[in-house]
Formats: sequence, structure tokens, C-alpha cells
Amino acid sequence: MSQSILILPGDGIGPEVAAAAKACLQAVAELEGLEFTFSEAPFGGAGIDACGEPLPEETLRAAEAADAIFLGAVGGPQWDHAPKRPEQGLLGLRKALGLFANLRPVKVFKGLEHLSPLKEDRVAGADVLIVRELTGGLYFGEKREGDDEAFDGCSYSRAEVSRIAEIGFKAAQGRKGKLTSVDKANVLATSRLWRKTVNDLSSQYPDVTVDHLYVDAAAMALVTHPARFDVIVTENLFGDILSDEAAVVAGSIGLLGSASLGASGPGLFEPIHGSAPDIAGQDKANPSGAIASAAMLLRYGLDQPKAADRLEAALEAALLHDERTADLGGTAKGSAFAQSVLAHIQTAQVMEPAQ
Ligand code: NAD
Ligand code: IPM
Ligand code: MN
Repeated sequence: MSQSILILPGDGIGPEVAAAAKACLQAVAELEGLEFTFSEAPFGGAGIDACGEPLPEETLRAAEAADAIFLGAVGGPQWDHAPKRPEQGLLGLRKALGLFANLRPVKVFKGLEHLSPLKEDRVAGADVLIVRELTGGLYFGEKREGDDEAFDGCSYSRAEVSRIAEIGFKAAQGRKGKLTSVDKANVLATSRLWRKTVNDLSSQYPDVTVDHLYVDAAAMALVTHPARFDVIVTENLFGDILSDEAAVVAGSIGLLGSASLGASGPGLFEPIHGSAPDIAGQDKANPSGAIASAAMLLRYGLDQPKAADRLEAALEAALLHDERTADLGGTAKGSAFAQSVLAHIQTAQVMEPAQ
């Protein structure tokens, strides 16, 4: 049975990294005997240019009908003064599909500690899963925008906090059993509800150790002691900021992928980086985050864990053995690095599950 993948290349480096991810998906599909059908739709700035809307109606319909969605990136200075910004399309898509859970894994591979600008002994062994709430908080609160005053409201309900905290607890159960909830409960009412809700849930997960950090202290600990973390669960804006910071632990923002999942329906898979207008069109972008997102699409979006393992193993091998892109201190063009990953896909050693 064929599985359908909708690709939203988007803007800036989006189309470059999306092409790399698609090539990897096609290569693993062939080796694993899977059948994927690909389609593309305009989105973000490209949606504004094509249809006057960052999230055209037809793109939304195609997204709802797909088995999984891959997004490159959206945004760019040319749309800064458009009536609707490209980023509104992304927020609209997340909301329309109910994608409240954003998983952002950050891992320092053995032998690649030197890729981080931080000291190697600090980042060694870091393996963190950031679980970011994605459809609430300041991003979706009431807004008023005037010339002399502006307002962004932040609200969370217990139900919204519970469902994302549950994702965090369950993820921790499958990992090292440690959940760090990050908030600003010393100042924010929403954070006090967040903390209370996490604590109330914790009795249902006796095998998970819970601690709480204020977001400012968490920001520091992420770079001083990244290996102390297992799963971090946090609200929308804190998760956005902390995940870019965590990318530095791994080495570059060009490395990290993400999965945005809802209670049902297709997931959205995208690198955490943006459209990088400063390097767009120069074949400089590191496609690793997009390829890591493609692996998450296979694992969480299409339930193809073996194909996901193969792709992740190939990406790790290319990062270990081949010339890397400029953001990681190498000289490889983005497309050349993608070719390296494709070569490793053919040879990647994938552990067969125990009989
Ligand atoms: P950015 O992530 O695009 O870029 C930040 C820095 O990281 C830049 O120096 C860029 O060159 C570098 N970088 C990013 N991705 C890279 C990659 N794959 N390889 C090598 N270097 C990479 O963030 P920004 O500059 O703050 O935002 C640019 C635009 O992207 C804005 O319009 C913003 O709203 C948008 N944005 C979109 C998404 C998304 O689509 N999910 C995410 C973040 C930002
Ligand atoms: C991300 C991006 C988006 C966010 C923007 C582009 C709306 O920064 O996916 O991390 O803030 O969620
Ligand atoms: Mn971000």
C-alpha cells in the first residue's frame, strides 16, 4: 500500500534542504521495499507569491489528506511587510491540524563532540528530547497591535498542559526515566498552572523522576550541563528558544530535526532552523536537520521504524566520516553532503530486531 507524503518546500533554504530529504526518503523506500507517493504545495512566502496566502486553502486540504507532511522552512525579509507573514501560515497549519506536540531531539554522537563550539567534556553524552507545546501560549493568545501599544496574551488550560505533559512522561518512560519541566512559575500564572498540572500527573508515572527548572536557569544548565537532561517538557515560546540554544550543544542549528504531532491525523516534520536568507541559493545549507526530520517522518508519521533506523544510521555515518558543511567547519556544499548520506543509505548497518 502506498503512503502519501506532502512536501512543502517553502522559502529560502527550505527548497534546498527539502530536496535532500526527499532524495533520502526515495532511497530508503527503494531499499526497504516501501511505496511512497510525493506531492508538493505552495506554503509560506511561496504561498503568498502563488496565491496571496501563506497557507492556501488547497495546501491545507492537501495537508489534511496526506499521510505525512514534510516542511523545509518559511519566511524571509521580502515578506516582512506583507499583509500576512509566511510564519502565520506555519502557525495556521499547526493549529488546523492540532499539532500540539513538538518533539525536538538533540544528541551529541560519540566522536562528534568537537562539532560543538562548547567544551567537549561538557557536551559529551548529551542526549535530550525537548517536548515543546506547540498550539498554545503567547503564540495563539489574544493580540492587539497599535502604534503606541501592543498586547500578546498568554493562556494555558489544564487540559492543554496535561496532554503535552503526558507526552513528556511517556517519552521519559521509554528513555532514562527523567522529566524536567521548564517554566517561570516564580512570575507567570500560566507557569504555576503548568507546574501544578505536571506534579498532579506525576503520581501516574512512578517510574519517572520529575524535576522543575525556571526557564532562565534551564537556559544556563542546557549549555553548562547538557548531559544532566533526559526529557524536557515546556511551553511554546520557551521550547522555541531553548531548542535553538540546544542546537549549539550538538554543533549547529543545521543538525536538528523535529516532529509535530497531534492526537490523530498526519504529522508535520521539519528542521528546527528557519529559511536562512543569509545563505539561501548558495548550496551552503546543512541538510542534516531536514534529513533527521525525514527519519522522524518515517518513524512517527508512517510507522516505518526500520527505514527510520537506516536513514539515521546513514546520517550519523556521513557526519562521522565525510566532509561536513560550513556550519560545522567543513567545506562540503549542502548537496554534496546529501550525496554522502545517500551513499551511506546503501550501506548503512541496521540492527535487525531480536527474534
Ligand atoms: P534561521 O534559523 O533561518 O537562521 C539563523 C542562522 O543559522 C543563520 O545564520 C543561518 O544561516 C543559520 N542556519 C540556519 N539553518 C542552517 C542550515 N541548515 N545550515 C547552515 N546554517 C543554517 O533563523 P532566522 O535568521 O532568525 O530566521 C530567518 C527566517 O526564517 C525568518 O523569516 C524566520 O521567521 C524564519 N523561521 C522559520 C522557521 C520554520 O520555517 N520552521 C524556523 C525558524 C525561523
Ligand atoms: C520554529 C520557528 C517558528 C516558531 C516560527 C517561524 C513561527 O521559529 O519552528 O521554531 O516560532 O515556532
Ligand atoms: Mn524556532
